[in-house]
Amino acid sequence: VPIEAPDINISKCVTATVRGVSAEAIRGLTCCPPVFDSSAKPAPYEFPDNQVIRMRPAAQRVSADYKKDFRKAVEIMKGYNDNDPHSWTQQAKVHCAYCNGAYTQVKSGLEFEKYIIQVHNSWLFFPFHRWYLYFLEKIMGKALGDDTFALPYWNWDHPTGMTIPAMYEDKLKNPDGNVDTPENTRFNSLFDPLRNTSHIAPALIDFQYYPQKQEVYNCADQIEINLSIMYNQMIANALDTKSFFGGELVAGENPNENKKAGSIEDGVHTIAHQWVGNNRLKNGEDMGNFYSAGYDPLFYGHHANVDRMWKIWKGMNRRHHAPSSTDWLDASYVFYDENRKLVRVYNRDCVDTRTMGYDYERSEIPWIRNRP
Ligand code: C2O
Repeated sequence: VPIEAPDINISKCVTATVRGVSAEAIRGLTCCPPVFDSSAKPAPYEFPDNQVIRMRPAAQRVSADYKKDFRKAVEIMKGYNDNDPHSWTQQAKVHCAYCNGAYTQVKSGLEFEKYIIQVHNSWLFFPFHRWYLYFLEKIMGKALGDDTFALPYWNWDHPTGMTIPAMYEDKLKNPDGNVDTPENTRFNSLFDPLRNTSHIAPALIDFQYYPQKQEVYNCADQIEINLSIMYNQMIANALDTKSFFGGELVAGENPNENKKAGSIEDGVHTIAHQWVGNNRLKNGEDMGNFYSAGYDPLFYGHHANVDRMWKIWKGMNRRHHAPSSTDWLDASYVFYDENRKLVRVYNRDCVDTRTMGYDYERSEIPWIRNRP
């Protein structure tokens, strides 16, 4: 039986927790989405006709105009009322709800309250995050009045992309010409104050990082290490569907019992979260914890590159395909779409990015040759 997100209504959304403490106690917010009509059933989602392909650019190479649009979109969303499904806060809460236990499982149309829904540590990881970014991108396009707007990807698998991309950290000048200090939040909507300040550029991401780690390598060594790790997680340790996507998770299973994350999820994905988040904070906010990761604009750039790894892996070899069991194909999630309509989406509809109306701008793939 596939995992199915419940119809969103308050009674089915419970308190999300972070290590036993309610997310509300930590951030002052519950993780439940707003409900406008508790009897409304989410409609099955349909792709719009004639979608223009939204080309996602590498974050280290975007133009000044692109940065302006991207900042603008985030700024607009940060300005929406917190209870608006399009607000930045609500988008961040989507992640908290699906990852910190706000939803319980549904089985045969019945609430199956024993177990929570968890979209990490299993084969739900790639499809859930693909849909999540899909709607965020459409919402940004809507805010800008530009349906070609595409999210950037943080190209951490390429030497030119291994630092936090500048646009997320840039100090911008206010209209009086002063650089805003100290948090830089007012003028650069892509900045997040809850990051590890030792890891801003030119620091290179370390794919062997762990929060207490002290040693740093020189750049050339770090790049080599990172590329070999990419090779392992994309090729040597990702030979079949299960190793890449992660193990099966079906309704009636406790997702916290056997974690079975795929190679990328378990590897560079999680490490980048921990590397960006502030390790002096108890929960590694923002990027270092499920409940808070979505508040950092860099989260979506990070996940766009994770999503790009799915596309690259699929294109590498004809035997590389998504899970074919209906337990995977029919698993579903509920989102508010770009028209603030509540919709239900299925894994089966997210296996091809072009069908979904987006693709990735090419970037050379250096790790293909980095067999350790
Ligand atoms: Cu849903 Cu990168 O975590």
